[in-house]
Amino acid sequence: MNSEVSGRPRVIDNVAALRAWLGACRGSGRSLGLVPTMGALHEGHLSLVRASRARCDATAVTIFVNPTQFGPHEDLTRYPRTLEADLDALAEVRADVVFTPPVELMYPAGFSTYVEPPEVARPWEGVCRPTHFRGVATVVLKLFQLLPADVAFFGQKDFQQCLVVRRMVRDLNVPIEIQVCPIVREPDGLAMSSRNRYLSPAERQQALALSRGLRVAGELVERDQREAAEILARVRGELRAAGIERIDYVALANPDTLAEVERVAPSAVLLLAAYVGSTRLIDNCLLGECLLGDGSPLDEPRE
Ligand code: PAF
Repeated sequence: MNSEVSGRPRVIDNVAALRAWLGACRGSGRSLGLVPTMGALHEGHLSLVRASRARCDATAVTIFVNPTQFGPHEDLTRYPRTLEADLDALAEVRADVVFTPPVELMYPAGFSTYVEPPEVARPWEGVCRPTHFRGVATVVLKLFQLLPADVAFFGQKDFQQCLVVRRMVRDLNVPIEIQVCPIVREPDGLAMSSRNRYLSPAERQQALALSRGLRVAGELVERDQREAAEILARVRGELRAAGIERIDYVALANPDTLAEVERVAPSAVLLLAAYVGSTRLIDNCLLGECLLGDGSPLDEPRE
């Protein structure tokens, strides 16, 4: 269907058309915002597009289910692919272009060059998913090369990913600003995720224990409980009480380095990863003094 008639963004799947569009965009002096995604879009993604539209003259969204960031036993083949619905959603938020590269464009035969991710990729997700951030860093850098935007937008839901991308951009002198946007939650608190659609109704209820755990931790810190051991025990208690037994990590870490902390002093990030049924979910929140200000401390580079 003609995108001008449907209101859908223009879909581009090859480098020649992408370069022509970029040339026209730059030629007219427009700033460019980039929202990298794997599709199966939800309100969290759409909030990134809105943030881009608020700051930049043109917004490009990428949809690419990146095979190199999935481990051998992860959900690459069953990862939801919902391009038609995604394009309708992107029409609503008025994205300009959607880049949907075929896998051969991103990983041509014989591909063997990867980005070695920064130190901050090592703990937490890095332990549970040892090759994940290598795949993320590699594909994100490739997307930044293909679409040299002024600003790229990422969600705080993937807290460690945000730090990895921000460090990579700094370390490799990539001329792009990274803006991190707040987590978008369902009205009952569940952080929006493309993987939520795997949950059965009963699991969807169970999954609420993650955001409840974060809330309990926030309340403890507000009442001046700063000891990590106490806070983490309460959060784990919330997960277990909901029948969530397979917990990858519940951790309090320094929000810049992700090193584990013993006290929330002055601030920390609480990171969770756990399985609800066979679905692995992650969530996080900032605790302590970093909550002061505009509530989005990741918006400003910390270096
Ligand atoms: O957050 C995601 O959806 C992916 O990790 C990203 C950044 C699009 C890279 O594939």
